[in-house]
Amino acid sequence: MQTYSINGSLCTPEEAMIPVTDHGFLYGDGVFEGLRFYGKRILKFTAHLNRLVESASAIALPLPLSLEELRESVLKVVEASPLENGYVRLIITRGTGPLGIDPRSCDTGNVIIIAGELKMVSQTVRHQGARLIIASTRRLAADQLDSRIKSLNYLNQIMARIEANEAGADEAVVLNQAGFVAEGTADNIFIVKGGILLTPPVTDCALDGITRNIILDIADKLSIPAEEKSITPFDVFTADECFLTGTGAELIPVREVVGRHIRQAPGPIFQRIEKQFQIELQHDTLFC
Ligand SMILES: Cc1ncc(COP(=O)(O)O)c(C=O)c1O
Repeated sequence: MQTYSINGSLCTPEEAMIPVTDHGFLYGDGVFEGLRFYGKRILKFTAHLNRLVESASAIALPLPLSLEELRESVLKVVEASPLENGYVRLIITRGTGPLGIDPRSCDTGNVIIIAGELKMVSQTVRHQGARLIIASTRRLAADQLDSRIKSLNYLNQIMARIEANEAGADEAVVLNQAGFVAEGTADNIFIVKGGILLTPPVTDCALDGITRNIILDIADKLSIPAEEKSITPFDVFTADECFLTGTGAELIPVREVVGRHIRQAPGPIFQRIEKQFQIELQHDTLFC
């Protein structure tokens, strides 16, 4: 059920190939976006394209297609997909080159687009809440690899995910180098304490999540007090509510963190936000 395009042209799964000498494959040298479409409309399309441009510019990667061409290529894949609702992976690689990491030796990058389905957790977890651990793997510091760069190198997150799998948990909370909560392995984290919605600032090594920003806008609209504030594992253990957000994850309530039971999962603030999120998906406001 997947639909593919390479460098702007739709292709069959057999044709959807790039050379093994692409530095995206050899070194994880490239950037990507994960987008969702609902009724063939792409959620926060411009915000995703803007983040892609920023990720590319942070690693000095020239975009092989113009923004308009990228936009059209994604729309073409969504249109060709048999799915009404789905997930899109938009990848820009450094391009093919000789062995050796020097990016100057590479040709123009490749643009790969895949539309399909993505389910991060089961329906049961979505209803009952996820169980989390706190990974011993830490997010890299901003001067090592800034968390705002959505790069093709996800080993840091994968190491944390392996820890979650080994512990039989649904997801891992990842801390930054200073021990503050950064985010999940592929999602942002929110807690509610004393009626206030809190999420770590992106400078605590979180991705500047597009769903995270939608939630902060919704909180504002619903007059739920919200702050971007550093939080520690203690704050999570003692939270009234906790939930995860992401394009892949959507909104997932959390019921347990390293054996500590979160008081309400799903809690009342989560439910209000989730309801408003569903309402907004019926309107055009989120699709621009
Ligand atoms: C590391 C990480 N954090 C957070 C997120 C959530 O960001 P968004 O809401 O933009 O999908 C993702 C999404 O893939 C991610 O990979």
